[in-house]
Amino acid sequence: MSADDSQNRYNPVSKGFHWVSALIVLGLLPLGYFMTSLEFSTFKLDLYAWHKSFGTLLLILVALRILWRLRKGTPPHLDTHTRWEVMLAKIVHILLYLGLIGMPVTGWLMTSFGQFPHAFFGLNIPPITPKNEDLYHLMGDLHEMCSYALIGAIVLHAAGAFKHHLIDKDITLLRMLPLKAQKIGVFLAAFILTLSLTFSAGFYLQSVLKQDKYKEAGSIEVASQVEDVVSEETDTSTATLEVPEGAYVHHHEDGSVHVHHHHDHSHDAEEDKDVSVQSWAIDTSQSTIGFSATAQKAAFDGNFNEFGGEIAFDPENLSGSHVRIEVNVASVSTGSDSRDGYLMDAAWLNEKEYSQAVFEADQFSKTDNGYLAEGTLTMRGVSLPVSFPFTLAISGEGADRVAKAAGSFSINRLDYGVGEGDWASEKTASHQIEIAVSITATAI
Ligand code: HEM
Ligand code: HEM
Repeated sequence: MSADDSQNRYNPVSKGFHWVSALIVLGLLPLGYFMTSLEFSTFKLDLYAWHKSFGTLLLILVALRILWRLRKGTPPHLDTHTRWEVMLAKIVHILLYLGLIGMPVTGWLMTSFGQFPHAFFGLNIPPITPKNEDLYHLMGDLHEMCSYALIGAIVLHAAGAFKHHLIDKDITLLRMLPLKAQKIGVFLAAFILTLSLTFSAGFYLQSVLKQDKYKEAGSIEVASQVEDVVSEETDTSTATLEVPEGAYVHHHEDGSVHVHHHHDHSHDAEEDKDVSVQSWAIDTSQSTIGFSATAQKAAFDGNFNEFGGEIAFDPENLSGSHVRIEVNVASVSTGSDSRDGYLMDAAWLNEKEYSQAVFEADQFSKTDNGYLAEGTLTMRGVSLPVSFPFTLAISGEGADRVAKAAGSFSINRLDYGVGEGDWASEKTASHQIEIAVSITATAI
């Protein structure tokens, strides 16, 4: 262990890479098990964000480390090592490198296929793949399995290092430690490793126990795993369609469309003639009700796929015009099934108690480039006045007339109590939500 050993030692840069990466990995493992065992909360989301930031940092470090290793090589194996020890160490090092690459890559792909927010210490990283629910689950499973394999490799690896240090009393461990900090380094390495493995085991058991408990209870609100929420929420969202009064259209995921008519339209038309206000049937396949917002500073768009309502609108008779649009909140689609699920929670849209959002207007005025509808938006049991400016284009003649109305307005989600309490911060989701409506309707 004199200065002559220097070619037998890892160079300082390699040491730096090793210990910084080891520290990050030994932190990310318990963090991963812990965060997945938590109930949905802002704290949980913050931990996910930290996990992703450090996981992404690790990927960068590993890439640099491999480049460095290719240039500078590694010190030769020590004479004190037997042939099988050299072989075993090689295999374990390959496993460790596979884990160091596999963990962040599967984590990143899982996040990308699920279209979840991904930021690198605040810097937004957009998804690198289109949304794919199956691949999202696959990557999640691989991420989890890879974590067990990595723990196995680390245990073997560290056991080997300590065996050489304590039993063989050679420099295997010391040559990976900074020269000046060897004693304290050995102690710290052992301490951090023990701590990490203990916490990993504890948090892992906690997450497994929680899952079992929720499976028994059949509860969805408190499910800790993102996957559970995804699958169960999708089931309920298709099962709880409420059919409101009037023509109502339900888009199924397989693309089929079911129209439910509760009104006798010929009768409606007679009534309408009396007050001479034209009635319109919404063509939902040509209409959209969408919104844009940001979550954890990343912009996202959403749509409500199920809506219906009654439109009696006549440019010649604005005072007799009346519009009522009902939206099924469970039909929200934001590109992430788990986010859609969370939006149903009591603190957000509270779908259980308020399954519909309703826009109703009977004050209309002409503007420079269209009309202004003044009415109320009712959401989560809160009714507030809103002004909705829209453009209108009517084409065709008589019974074939088609009207296209489009416009947008913005609301403050907190006014309606959407994302209350812990969720109220701008960071979780922007307060200002831009709602864009485009309706195509045919004359009836
Ligand atoms: C070396 C780097 C990493 C390690 C050691 C690691 C470790 C873990 C562990 C042990 C878990 C809990 C087990 C599981 O449910 O999968 C986990 C979960 C998770 N990791 Fe990582 N991870 C790493 C990198 C990343 C990266 C880069 C991302 C994303 C950009 C990521 C995203 C996730 C997500 C979203 C979960 C939760 C999955 C769920 O909700 O079920 N991880 N990670
Ligand atoms: C506290 C626990 C740890 C100790 C005591 C330790 C110790 C060592 C030692 C002594 C070496 C040099 C082996 C030799 O000369 O043949 C080494 C290499 C290595 N360690 Fe660790 N290590 C620990 C944790 C980790 C962790 C958590 C990882 C990554 C997941 C890791 C990844 C590696 C890799 C990839 C090498 C091979 C470096 C190369 O030759 O390119 N180590 N470690």
